[in-house]
Amino acid sequence: MDPPVPALHDRAVAAADRLLAAESVRVVSHDDADGLTSAAIAATALERAGLAVDVEIKHGLDEAAIDDLATTGGTVLFTDLGSGGLDRLAELADTGSFTPVVADHHEPADGSIEHHLNPHCVGLDGGRELAGAGTAYVLARTVLDRAGVDEPDPRELAALAVVGAVGDRQTVDGELVGANAAVAADGEAVGVIESGTDLAIYGTQTRPLPKLLEYTTDVRIPGITGNRQGAIRFLEALDVELRTEAGWPTWADLGPEKRTQVASALLTRAIERGVPAERIDALVGTSYILPREEPGTQLRDASEFATLLNATARYEESEIGLAVCRGDRDGALDRAETLLKNHRRNISAGIEYLAETGTTEAEHLQWVHAGEQIRATIVGIVAGMALGEGDIDRHTPIVAFANKPDGGVKVSARANGRLGDRGLNLGTALREAAATVGGEGGGHAMAAGATIPEGAEETFVSALDGRIGAQLN
Ligand code: C5P
Ligand code: C5P
Ligand code: ZN
Repeated sequence: MDPPVPALHDRAVAAADRLLAAESVRVVSHDDADGLTSAAIAATALERAGLAVDVEIKHGLDEAAIDDLATTGGTVLFTDLGSGGLDRLAELADTGSFTPVVADHHEPADGSIEHHLNPHCVGLDGGRELAGAGTAYVLARTVLDRAGVDEPDPRELAALAVVGAVGDRQTVDGELVGANAAVAADGEAVGVIESGTDLAIYGTQTRPLPKLLEYTTDVRIPGITGNRQGAIRFLEALDVELRTEAGWPTWADLGPEKRTQVASALLTRAIERGVPAERIDALVGTSYILPREEPGTQLRDASEFATLLNATARYEESEIGLAVCRGDRDGALDRAETLLKNHRRNISAGIEYLAETGTTEAEHLQWVHAGEQIRATIVGIVAGMALGEGDIDRHTPIVAFANKPDGGVKVSARANGRLGDRGLNLGTALREAAATVGGEGGGHAMAAGATIPEGAEETFVSALDGRIGAQLN
């Protein structure tokens, strides 16, 4: 079997050998879908290779957290985080008893450690070409290969890696590209992933059609989006009987012919109602199905799976999400579904709040302070989804603040892909701007976050505005 991402191979071999030389490994990972899938992939591989593994999920990794881990010592594998704290890790790694191994895809800070696996280090774009879970997958494959474990097929872990990449919104024009696509191809080769052109609307497996269409919030179709009765009228006016005795089917319930009919009517409606062509394109994309999961469940489609995981991790119940990833589903799945309902309610209330409040414009960004109105752990997800809602301009980077329950202010910034071509890099801009007010930040070009002291918001906005302006010139 060829290595899935050849550019990372040498680094992966060195990191894998180091891990295999330990007796036990602590895996420390991030509290979102990508972080949970990363941890599950890494832990599965290390356990199969005979190591004792212990997993810890964290909301982030500030200096205090790194110092804590270093004090406890041992071999620590960081997945989907760690690169942003590389400077601190490098200082501590030299002190002896603590061995950090990092498999991450965030913009690396300055500093270097012996075992650092990150697409950015080999010229790949960690914001779009490989997520944390894909990086963990590369490492896992190498660990299993070096340990001589080939049953079950290590490529089966690619299913979780696809969920992680989709969860981190790494698709470009609706599909995974670059190394992510190579990972998905591994999954297809062993039958744990099926991909194909499909309607790119969230909820194709679990939502009855009227609800599916009502929630097409990424692409707003007048008369359908946000309008249940309108969605029902649209479906009833079609030349095909969709509703059955059991009620409205889901998209997944439909056969290929009915799907084509619904999709083309939807596209026609969007065109008639003047939805711009680039938005119409966004209605179609590649779906990633996990054929071994039960049809019609939250686990069958990668994007629904990812949202289910976020609904656990972002509410301090990451052990539930981790259990679901690892196949320990008794009890965990029910709890995850309850959390998902709660997460969805919070997201829609959050979007509504931002759309009503509106944003304040700076020169190169728009910002809004949600105070206590949006939970700090989901303010980034909400900000990203609020772009294009109400009067919030889709093409201007959005910066949203929320108060953290334990003090300090959470910052989340999101932008649309096109600005990347003009040089925007929110990850570096937030890192630098946060440092000017005594905070910490980082992330990716189009999605980044920070924590800053209370009262520093306006100073932070001007520092950030200046940096973004400089990037765009
Ligand atoms: O796992 P990681 O720390 O890389 O998380 C990236 C976060 O950014 C995810 O929560 C993902 O949903 C979010 N994101 C986004 N919009 C993008 C890219 C990522 O909201 N365009
Ligand atoms: O928290 P939020 O969802 O806004 O984070 C967006 C991205 O920025 C994530 O990939 C997250 O890991 C990263 N981030 C970071 N350093 C911070 C806060 C967020 O690297 N202090
Ligand atoms: Zn990630």
